[in-house]
Amino acid sequence: MLEGKRIIVTGSARGMGEATLKAYVEAGANVVGMDVSDEAGESVSNKANNAGPGKCSYIHVDVSKKSSVEESFTKAVEILGGLDVLAHPAAIQRASNASDVSVEDWDLMFSINVKGTMLTNQIAYKYMKKSGGGSIINFGSISGLRPEPSASAYSAAKGAVHSWTRTASGTWGKDNIRVNAILPAMATPMYYAARERSTEEENIASHWRNSVPISLGQEYGDPDRDLAPVMVFFASDSSRFITGQLIPVDGGQTAGL
Ligand SMILES: NC(=O)c1ccc[n+]([C@@H]2O[C@H](COP(=O)([O-])OP(=O)(O)OC[C@H]3O[C@@H](n4cnc5c(N)ncnc54)[C@H](O)[C@@H]3O)[C@@H](O)[C@H]2O)c1
Repeated sequence: MLEGKRIIVTGSARGMGEATLKAYVEAGANVVGMDVSDEAGESVSNKANNAGPGKCSYIHVDVSKKSSVEESFTKAVEILGGLDVLAHPAAIQRASNASDVSVEDWDLMFSINVKGTMLTNQIAYKYMKKSGGGSIINFGSISGLRPEPSASAYSAAKGAVHSWTRTASGTWGKDNIRVNAILPAMATPMYYAARERSTEEENIASHWRNSVPISLGQEYGDPDRDLAPVMVFFASDSSRFITGQLIPVDGGQTAGL
């Protein structure tokens, strides 16, 4: 389904980035995975490349740093021979309360999650314009739609990702570049870490438990089964008339807002 597509996946060392990268290579694409976590990133890419039928390699990136993004994307585009798709799950999540969130936490969250989205999208746009079009898939969150007492900076940053996604789609549509954001609820290392550090009260307040109508025997979705096929669709030409949208892939969680 993705034969001939040239794709960059950020945050590819684990979680939804890993599931996305594997699915793209399985669908025949030529992929470069990127992350700050190099050992895991290399290992995920090597395994996917060996499994085929597409191709895959790995490059280090820190999405919050302009020079790193420029250097890594330039190298990746050289390897791929152009760029058609950017899947951008790379992000961090930290706990913070609105009453006392520190400037350091706020800056870190906005640097990686918001500036990282702007920097990766902007350079992807430059290369996709040369390719005659493309698809950028960002990652928002239900946290950017609802009050999030246990993660104030994360929530504000995801709200900014939603706004950016709409604005970029409006700006780049004329170049045949679509920009959407997935709002997932998937069982990944980020999810388990957040659940682990939360109190029972916060778990209930965050609606993590019993908040997913289609639970399929688990609380959150399986990235390989429940997210990866959607990522393939948004990388493919089948989604060519969808842009500027926030797409929940969450078993109905946002429907309860
Ligand atoms: N897991 C969920 O249910 C959930 C819910 C809502 C939104 N999200 C969003 O979905 C996306 C994927 O989440 P996940 O659960 O797979 O997370 P994860 O923590 O499991 O994986 C994130 C990856 O991003 C990488 N990363 C972090 N900082 C980076 C940086 N500066 N540069 C490059 N790579 C960096 C990490 O090393 C990691 O490999 C994120 O944007 C997250 O905010 C997740």
